[in-house]
Amino acid sequence: MKIAIYPGTFDPITNGHLDIIERATQLFDKVIVTVAVNSSKTPMFTGEERVDMIQAIIKQKRFSNVSVEQFNGLLVSFATKRNATAIIRGLRAISDFEYEFQMALMNRKQSNKIDTVFLMPAEKYTYLNSSIVREIARLDGKFKDFVHPVVYRVLKKKLSL
Ligand code: COA
Repeated sequence: MKIAIYPGTFDPITNGHLDIIERATQLFDKVIVTVAVNSSKTPMFTGEERVDMIQAIIKQKRFSNVSVEQFNGLLVSFATKRNATAIIRGLRAISDFEYEFQMALMNRKQSNKIDTVFLMPAEKYTYLNSSIVREIARLDGKFKDFVHPVVYRVLKKKLSL
């Protein structure tokens, strides 16, 4: 069974992330979306809130081979514990490359049994990231097209819009 983990902060998950998850489900038997709770970022949503949103979306989209978990600590250790052989990362533009390249090689140094697989989201999502969605939402701009309705509702509620 080919298992992949898809790590990120997902603060919140966007349609760009969902596009990557959908592609990964075609390539792997099981995809574990792993929500990083110990990152250097200061998230708007708690780990539980991020996991709950992803869980609700997985259910609605009927992704039968996708699960979601929070993780703390070293990514490669988590992947090893879950018997994953791949780490999925999205590549949106050349600007992502340097950081992703460094991370992939560093992860390989930690374990050469786990490879990083880069997937490209649909072009319409290449400009998207979670901070820009949060900012547009905070400023009461239009963000419905960038996130799943579950996230739209939770984000609106969080900001009491
Ligand atoms: N669509 C939309 N946005 C996307 C995207 C896509 N397909 N792919 C990435 N992004 C955005 C994210 O929303 C995020 O935006 P933000 O900065 O505004 O929040 C940004 O691109 C990149 O963040 P993300 O993909 O969440 O990764 P990250 O850099 O926050 O997380 C970890 C990286 C958690 C995987 C990494 O820090 C990690 O592995 N930490 C664990 C500790 C560890 O093992 N460290 C050693 C690593 S070598």
